[in-house]
Amino acid sequence: MTTAQKSLTDRAAWKALETHSKAIRNLHLRQIFVDDPGRDERLTAEASGLFLDYSKNRVTNETLSLLLKLAEESGLRERIDAMFRGDKINITENRAVLHVALRTPKGKSIVVDGKDVVPDVHEVLDRMAEFSNKIRSGAWTGHTGKRIRNIVNIGIGGSDLGPVMAYEALRHYSDRNLTFRFVSNVDGTDFAEATRDLDPAETLFIVSSKTFTTLETMTNAQTARAWSLKGLGGDEKAVARHFVAVSTNAKEVTKFGIDTANMFGFWDWVGGRYSMDSAIGLSTMIAVGPEGFRAMLDGFHQMDEHFRATPFERNLPVLMALLTIWYTDFFGSETVAILPYDQYLKRFPAYLQQLTMESNGKSIRLDGQRVNYDTSPVYWGEPGTNGQHSFYQLIHQGTRLIPCDLIGFCQSLNPLGDHHDYLMSNVFAQAEALAFGKTAEQVKAEGTADWLVPHRTFEGNRPSNTILADRLTPQVLGTLIALYEHNVFTQGVIWGIDSFDQWGVELGKVLAQRIIPELKASGEPELHHDGSTNALIRRYRQHKAK
Ligand code: F6P
Repeated sequence: MTTAQKSLTDRAAWKALETHSKAIRNLHLRQIFVDDPGRDERLTAEASGLFLDYSKNRVTNETLSLLLKLAEESGLRERIDAMFRGDKINITENRAVLHVALRTPKGKSIVVDGKDVVPDVHEVLDRMAEFSNKIRSGAWTGHTGKRIRNIVNIGIGGSDLGPVMAYEALRHYSDRNLTFRFVSNVDGTDFAEATRDLDPAETLFIVSSKTFTTLETMTNAQTARAWSLKGLGGDEKAVARHFVAVSTNAKEVTKFGIDTANMFGFWDWVGGRYSMDSAIGLSTMIAVGPEGFRAMLDGFHQMDEHFRATPFERNLPVLMALLTIWYTDFFGSETVAILPYDQYLKRFPAYLQQLTMESNGKSIRLDGQRVNYDTSPVYWGEPGTNGQHSFYQLIHQGTRLIPCDLIGFCQSLNPLGDHHDYLMSNVFAQAEALAFGKTAEQVKAEGTADWLVPHRTFEGNRPSNTILADRLTPQVLGTLIALYEHNVFTQGVIWGIDSFDQWGVELGKVLAQRIIPELKASGEPELHHDGSTNALIRRYRQHKAK
């Protein structure tokens, strides 16, 4: 048995980390900084415009070298190569995992099942660019000849979170003559509110769904079709001017009534949560233009190359993943807070929730055995400084250890007065306060009454990463997303799980399909669920007609 095949907890590095974690559990970051004055420079890494300061983590040189050893013993190098090579590493679905091909420059090649996929990627990108230019220039008109001014993306999960996050993140670069809306929830309120002030004659729907069978998306798409036709006099021909599809499933797209000439495809080797840089990003491309989109792809690609080729000790995604494993598995930490200090990144934490938790929220290893260690922490967050006036209290003084990623930019896209210095002072202040806190002696020395001292003391020793970039550009956004994609990949490799399936979402979908007719039935249906579910369904039926 090679070390890579050995169960995680049996690996030498894991065992050494267990012993080491006991030894340094009570070591305070104050002491760590005193003992290691050079760490502020040494524990930093830089790649394609992103600067990572990870010095404020509860790690010593020994911790880092053991974590790096764990990565080696877990076969990370081979797994990275296997992913980039197009091996079918998503074993439960027998699929390659090739979101990296979506941003591979023209002329390079990645072969899947005997076929180079890079030319196909660029063929779709070129079609997307042509279509985006037509919308942006007004050359593509609606059924009545009016110019398209509203773009509504209908999709859910990876077919929504990426597009909405990217639109918000890159709003500064977007065509302000166009209005963008995103409909995801099957709750009719989402569609109603997104379209209530739109003119159907000026509205284009992008129906985005990898499978084109997702209940939420198909329901919203049918509603959109009816809304469109009603507003355009009922002429079926209108659909061709007001609906385009993004999918891997041409058959279902045709069945829905969208001409495949108006379909932008992608492939089964792109996972939904890894698809925002595929045709799923059509709304992003329309918003920022093909050049902006290509700049974003370039940012992704730069981080891909960094991840593939940089030694692990300087590799940003690898370092971040190892730190997450350190806190999750050796400190019992259960969450990671994502704290972007940029209003444009307000949907970034929500986007990362799917990327991280749908990928690594697993308890079965690749070999079918149950894990005997914790896997993905819960990712959550809000933009700073809003979070500071809400939940930071718990991070600073609560009983839980919550590692934080603080993300900031040296230049503001909206430089108003002193706003940006105030914003960034909070990034640095929060990381400082979290790490070093304020001792009882310091609080006492300020003349605080003895009884109040414990309340006003900050323990500190709360770890954080600080990620800085010069400016939020399309390229930097791509780099940042790829950083987290490869961070998630690295975590999954070490935990020995399949980060690219999502069987855990299936049961609820199946049960909902069974319950739908029970809710709609005109006569009293026979119910065969558990007592609680039966009673809830009966109550809903009794009250829904009121
Ligand atoms: O239910 C989970 C999921 O399969 C996600 O993985 C995916 O991003 C989402 O549903 C939407 O799927 P689709 O793009 O096929 O509509």
